[in-house]
Amino acid sequence: MDTVEIKAHAKLNLTLDIIGKRDDGYHDLQMVMQAVELHDTVRVARRDCGIECSIDCAALPSGEGNIAHKAARCFFGATGIDGGVSIDIEKRIPFAAGMAGGSTDAAAVLHAMRSLFAPMMDDAALLEIGAKVGSDVPFCILGGTALAEGRGERLTPLAPMPRAPIVLCKPDFPISTPELFSLVRQGKITRRPDTAAMIDALSRADADAVGAHLCNVFEDILPEKYAEVHAIREQLLALGAAGALMTGSGPTVFGIFDDEDTAHHAAETLQKRYPQTFLTYPV
Ligand code: C5P
Repeated sequence: MDTVEIKAHAKLNLTLDIIGKRDDGYHDLQMVMQAVELHDTVRVARRDCGIECSIDCAALPSGEGNIAHKAARCFFGATGIDGGVSIDIEKRIPFAAGMAGGSTDAAAVLHAMRSLFAPMMDDAALLEIGAKVGSDVPFCILGGTALAEGRGERLTPLAPMPRAPIVLCKPDFPISTPELFSLVRQGKITRRPDTAAMIDALSRADADAVGAHLCNVFEDILPEKYAEVHAIREQLLALGAAGALMTGSGPTVFGIFDDEDTAHHAAETLQKRYPQTFLTYPV
């Protein structure tokens, strides 16, 4: 086997809570994460030496500046394997969007490199390499539905989210994750998720309760310049979403719907103003 092709799925946050700031500059988090069908396609081919990385999106770095390249460097560094890879990324997931678009490409590279170079490597070892690449990479390696704690690397698989159409809407501006983290003042957060209630809703496959417990503390501290995020959330609810939330550090907002027709109509309506609108499903 010389080439591996992998679907690199986007993620959503059903909850995001910030527990505290750590000495290493990162924050301790508690997040219920969900993988969705929207994906990039990542192809990794074996070569004799060196790492090449290309991506079909001019706004993102190819080569060393891409987190997928970093993933390959970390894999070779951690395993001591002497080899090379060519990475080719077909981008569909919006970037700087709160959907782990870069982290999921990195996770796909790690999965592919395990298949190509170290099929006996266990999941724990792959997750450990992922944590060195980026905070969201371990969840992207695992996929499905999971509680992520610590920096994001401590994972507990959860009962799957009930299958429901999800409309994702990414407004035309990025939000920098470090910038938003720098605005966190613990005492100022007024609305926090009830993580236990979300986990309970998932274990009962209670879609209404999942919608009711969506909560992301970043929504609370968004600067005024990003007010459009709140407007999109209101629009999704007005268009019939059972629940709606900003994912991660934004600015993408998603709505969970009870039925296909309403979701299709909402996606079509939002797409007119926001071209980066997608209808997707949990995986
Ligand atoms: O780990 P990653 O490079 O994806 O994180 C990007 C930035 O997000 C970090 O440099 C840090 O500013 C912030 N971050 C954080 N706490 C986390 C995850 C990310 O403060 N748990």
